Amino acid sequence: MKDLDGKTAFVTGAASGIGLGIATALSQAGVKVMLCDIEEEALAKAVAELKLTNADVDSVRADVSLKTRLQEVAKATVARYGKIHILVNNAGVGGGRGYGFWTDASWNWTLGVNLMSVIWGFEIFGPLIEAHGEGGQIVSTASIAGLISGPVFPAYNVTKYGVVALSEGLRAALAPRGIGVSVLCPGFIRTQIMNSRRNLPQRFAGAMESVPTKGPVAELVNQWTERISDGIDPLYVGELVREGIENDWPYIFTDNEFEPLIDERFAAIKQGFDRIRGRKPRH
Ligand SMILES: NC(=O)c1ccc[n+]([C@@H]2O[C@H](COP(=O)([O-])OP(=O)(O)OC[C@H]3O[C@@H](n4cnc5c(N)ncnc54)[C@H](O)[C@@H]3O)[C@@H](O)[C@H]2O)c1
Repeated sequence: MKDLDGKTAFVTGAASGIGLGIATALSQAGVKVMLCDIEEEALAKAVAELKLTNADVDSVRADVSLKTRLQEVAKATVARYGKIHILVNNAGVGGGRGYGFWTDASWNWTLGVNLMSVIWGFEIFGPLIEAHGEGGQIVSTASIAGLISGPVFPAYNVTKYGVVALSEGLRAALAPRGIGVSVLCPGFIRTQIMNSRRNLPQRFAGAMESVPTKGPVAELVNQWTERISDGIDPLYVGELVREGIENDWPYIFTDNEFEPLIDERFAAIKQGFDRIRGRKPRH
């Protein structure tokens, strides 16, 4: 989508961090942006600040892990702006603990916000983008954690691998329909992700595992909190996403820090093939 001026975008998780960076960068390019978030006050503040820059923006509050809410706000966006060209599936939470500690509540919360909302985003907004025939783009925020996994936050890894799989797969399916598909895989970005439980829906309250304050997991969380508080500017990420939309990039990375770990993973996968190379499978 070369010419973004005058187009319309719907961005989830837009009240903070990467989503706000994307909403800002798109609105600076003349895109009309509907900001969607669960956090009402932060959403109102974000929209008020963007309006000061003369951006054409509006907001809808929704818990994107509820399909009916996503359907309702999609309708509201069409009612407000007419056509939707860009969907940014960005809302996400860092939730859930490792083996031996996880709960159904944390799996359901993380799967709902990070993965099901993206699946429903494609399902609900895809036809709306296709309908006007002007083309569009669907960008979903996965993570470097969607390309390399670890032992500490399996639910997060599973959802982010899911977002990568969905985006890679649907790219070919949606191209003939005039819709480009990109997956954003950020490294450490300066956002509020480490304080995700501020948005825990009431239905999960009391059912979540506790967060450790001591031991190796707590130490790792502290290290990540530090890296994130000193992380990449979310507006820089927003500008990369804008470039990714303009040029239909399949993968949008923010930096090269984890590239060697991804190379290691590919090498380990390759070794798996090497182990059985030359054998004749029995049928
Ligand atoms: N910050 C990083 O280093 C980093 C790295 C890789 C990927 N990500 C991903 O980036 C995305 C954005 O996160 P962020 O880092 O900007 O964190 P953030 O907490 O600053 O922003 C996330 C936004 O999502 C909203 N949100 C949470 N639950 C929601 C729900 N149920 N419905 C609607 N909105 C909801 C929050 O209110 C918040 O505004 C997430 O998908 C996250 O997994 C972040």
